[in-house]
Amino acid sequence: MPPTPAPRLNVKVRRKETDGRFGQLHLECPDEARRAVPGQFVQLRAPEGRAPQQNLLRRPFSIHLWIDANGDPAPSPERIAGLAVYFKIIGPGTQALAALEQGDGVDFLGPLGVGRDLSEPAPDRVWCVGGGYGVAPMLFWGQSLADAATEKHLVYGINQLSDLPAFPSFSDGYFHYMAKALGMQFHLSAVHLVRDLFVGTCVALLEKLLEAAPGGVGRDEVVACGPMGMMKATALVAWQRHLPCRVMLEEMMACGTGVCRSCVCPGRGEDGSARNITTCTEGPLLDAARVAWDEIG
Ligand SMILES: Cc1cc2nc3c(=O)[nH]c(=O)nc-3n(C[C@H](O)[C@H](O)[C@H](O)COP(=O)(O)OP(=O)(O)OC[C@H]3O[C@@H](n4cnc5c(N)ncnc54)[C@H](O)[C@@H]3O)c2cc1C
Ligand code: FES
Repeated sequence: MPPTPAPRLNVKVRRKETDGRFGQLHLECPDEARRAVPGQFVQLRAPEGRAPQQNLLRRPFSIHLWIDANGDPAPSPERIAGLAVYFKIIGPGTQALAALEQGDGVDFLGPLGVGRDLSEPAPDRVWCVGGGYGVAPMLFWGQSLADAATEKHLVYGINQLSDLPAFPSFSDGYFHYMAKALGMQFHLSAVHLVRDLFVGTCVALLEKLLEAAPGGVGRDEVVACGPMGMMKATALVAWQRHLPCRVMLEEMMACGTGVCRSCVCPGRGEDGSARNITTCTEGPLLDAARVAWDEIG
């Protein structure tokens, strides 16, 4: 289990974007950001008085990007000045975070959990598949492979166009813009009919892209984050093609540090035997084969 970092009560917000449905915060935390790897998460709570009543729990969010002092994606480790989170505004916790302003402090714990080991060999090609707000950690995954010769694909699934953020600073599509900036090829699917878009789920789009993709299979990798059903379907697509697949589980998490056991998910040990996984400390990033998908529904 990774050591639990000490909480910090006053991590400064350097920048905020929101369109009322989604939010993005840039947080000034260079030391924590330099330790962070893709797949890890932070727990955040806005101070009292910023929003509707919220309970005492910090809320978990995937790390979205390494940020430099100008608020751009950090181009190299020496330029890391903080990290960004991207979130859907759902209830009191996320409403309070979206109400923060530049210079406000936030209660911060992280980085938490297990993510990608940056020293592991880079694949020749990676398919980063994000469903809904599960797309948040995928930009970080691409950013962490910036120096590798890896062909990087972001496959992002929404239901309808209103599921895309419309941040004031990114008029022509935030994820499209960021994927391009990070050297990732961008593919978007929508379940409801949208002109010029692939109609269907991001998993169906992944299947189509894999069919059309030239080259062998052994050096591709799939990584997925989103609703459980979407990750299960992605794991199946990868398994059918003998592709390694990792998923980032977003179970309900209260403490984020392995104490409360609210995040336990049915899984398998190394020998295939049934065993529960504490997703906040053993994950959120897990080999898809470790999850007992048949028990998840
Ligand atoms: C590892 C991880 C990474 C995540 N990454 C992102 C991300 O990058 N972007 C994003 O938009 N969302 C992410 N989520 C989901 C996000 O944490 C929830 O949407 C958020 O906690 C909702 O809080 P709320 O108060 O606004 O909503 P509410 O629905 O009002 O919350 C009600 C109560 O449920 C609890 N609760 C709700 N969802 C969760 C949850 N997932 N885990 C624990 N408690 C919960 C809250 O503590 C609160 O007490 C992630 C969740 C996990 C576990
Ligand atoms: S969230 Fe408490 S043990 Fe995982």
